[in-house]
Amino acid sequence: MPPSSIDTGTDKLLAEVAGHVATVTFNNPAKLNALSRDMRAALPDLLKTLNDDADVRVIVVTGAGDRAFASGADISEFGDQRTSPEARASYDHDQAGLVGAWAEVDKPVIAMIRGYCLGGGLLTALQSDIRVASEDSLLGIPAARLGLGYGFGGVTALLNLVNPATAAEILFSARRFTAADALRMGLVNQVVPADRLRDTVYDLADGIARNAPLTVAAAKSAIRAAAQPPQQRDLARVQAQIEACFRSADYLEGQRAFAEKRPPEFTGR
Ligand code: COA
Repeated sequence: MPPSSIDTGTDKLLAEVAGHVATVTFNNPAKLNALSRDMRAALPDLLKTLNDDADVRVIVVTGAGDRAFASGADISEFGDQRTSPEARASYDHDQAGLVGAWAEVDKPVIAMIRGYCLGGGLLTALQSDIRVASEDSLLGIPAARLGLGYGFGGVTALLNLVNPATAAEILFSARRFTAADALRMGLVNQVVPADRLRDTVYDLADGIARNAPLTVAAAKSAIRAAAQPPQQRDLARVQAQIEACFRSADYLEGQRAFAEKRPPEFTGR
């Protein structure tokens, strides 16, 4: 079946679904996919649409072109949108909504990183479950070079992946780190040659999409809960998701397929 595209309301954010895999693309290569207000505004609804679509089992997020995943927030909007206290409050409110929208996604998300992945671009990649980068990627958080205050949520997301000393190095130095550095730091899962990036990511996505969706969703939920402070964890939800796996037709299918020595055909029910 040919991929079907989804209208996000802006050509700066593209989305399509092929088989069980959706791809979300930041699309402003002339600005190295700097994250503009229209992209940020369109993203929560899009994520909800993809999350609610039973056919979608994995989401790949990436940037258009071969130079950038995303070069961070669009700095040309800072004067209007990120300077006065009122404008910043509105920006931060939208940003919190966006992070909340990512947190609502039950499906696995893979960031396919090529080229620059900076600031808000890296923060977006941190919302993903798995990050795969090409060897020519450069990752960093340039906030200290711009003089902006980097939010607690962003620091927390960073600390969920790297140790405090590494977070300090990333934030204080504002340097751009190579993909090899990012792998050593634990910022990315895998680094591959640029010409292997697409195949690597979609092989991984297809493999995950063939697995039992309820098991994958329960695992995602547990991983996310474990990263939260104990008082914020919704362990009842995690437990209910684990229980749903055991009650599912897919659990029976998994056992049958094993006994019959064939690949399982999971439905997510
Ligand atoms: N916001 C707005 N515009 C951006 C941008 C951003 N975050 N990142 C790149 N652009 C624009 C540039 O202004 C330039 O536009 P122009 O052609 O109209 O001049 C275009 O994208 C290409 O970028 P350019 O700087 O010419 O490319 P480069 O290869 O010399 O440098 C970077 C690439 C990524 C090192 C450099 O663009 C950069 O430092 N960008 C800002 C990164 C940043 O601080 N992000 C965090 C924001 S919180």
